[in-house]
Amino acid sequence: MKSESEARIAIVGSGYMGGGMAQVFALAGHTCVIADADSAIAERSFARLISEAETFEKQGLFPVGSVEKISKNLSFAQSIEEASASADYIAEVVPEIIEIKEVVLSTISSAARVDAIIASNTSAIPIAQLSAFVTNPARFLGVHWMNPAPFVPGVEVIATPSTSEDIVQYVERLIGGVGKVTSRVSDIAGFIANRLQFALYKEAVTMFEEGSATPAEVDSVVSNTFGFRLALFGPFAIADMAGLDVYVGAYKSLAKAYGERFAAPTSLVEKTSAGDFGLKTGGGFAGLDGSKSAEIAAYRNRAYAALSQLKKELGPPPGFPA
Ligand SMILES: NC(=O)c1ccc[n+]([C@@H]2O[C@H](COP(=O)([O-])OP(=O)(O)OC[C@H]3O[C@@H](n4cnc5c(N)ncnc54)[C@H](O)[C@@H]3O)[C@@H](O)[C@H]2O)c1
Repeated sequence: MKSESEARIAIVGSGYMGGGMAQVFALAGHTCVIADADSAIAERSFARLISEAETFEKQGLFPVGSVEKISKNLSFAQSIEEASASADYIAEVVPEIIEIKEVVLSTISSAARVDAIIASNTSAIPIAQLSAFVTNPARFLGVHWMNPAPFVPGVEVIATPSTSEDIVQYVERLIGGVGKVTSRVSDIAGFIANRLQFALYKEAVTMFEEGSATPAEVDSVVSNTFGFRLALFGPFAIADMAGLDVYVGAYKSLAKAYGERFAAPTSLVEKTSAGDFGLKTGGGFAGLDGSKSAEIAAYRNRAYAALSQLKKELGPPPGFPA
């Protein structure tokens, strides 16, 4: 196996996500080949990715020289077998339909070297379930990129009990090496990002269905209030900074209105009952250093002010209410 910085990449499924991932790998200097259901689609995707890269370079979103670099490193294959045969790392990025994933993962498995790494970009299917479609599952894992792949930093890395630890570490170095921030997450449906994202979306649609809020109201409130904070801190850090006692109080009112599903979580109640109110008492869930409270608050204020300024400069997305 080549060192991760020299890994040859194959992307199977050159659509929205696979295309973006291919641009990232090629831009970072990896040889990257895309394959699709047939060679005509792969060829069209190749042309689209180059033309998109031209736009991104003109817009200053990709550095100068990116198009040349991507054109040099990126190619398209005639078949999945051809792309897989010479790759060290193969990403499966086909539609979220298990029957398609089964066929594609089996095809990749039989064509790839026995030690080539195979990664699925599934959004929500447990990786252990897909693992059954792969030969030598020690080299199989989930590597879940976010949309749009070139510009969102986070990538979830999901091992199964069969995945080799060496492979996981190799992949973390590979994905970190192309500029992404990896997080190892459990092999649960939706992983971390989509389990949370879809819980939030469901509650938002429920508010819409009951007539409590319009989509525009929800979107405006979320993106300007707690969603704004989420760009810098996760829910645990935010709760610790706000005060866990405040959260328990809020859950009481919410549970009264919406029932048991909004009851305060047991571990939250236990913490507050023991006098742990988060950062202000030097505790909480996120492991923040209580002695750094003032520095954390100063960082938070600086970060929020900068983000507010950025939002003003960018203005609302086209067609969105101001
Ligand atoms: N779109 C997102 O926001 C997003 C974000 C994260 C993860 N994902 C996941 O990434 C995967 C791909 O999603 P996408 O949005 O890029 O889909 P997409 O429809 O844009 O791309 C899928 C590609 O797979 C190709 N394909 C279909 N059948 C194939 C086959 N049998 N063999 C080879 N290629 C085949 C299609 O031609 C297409 O190019 C899914 O598992 C999805 O859940 C999507």
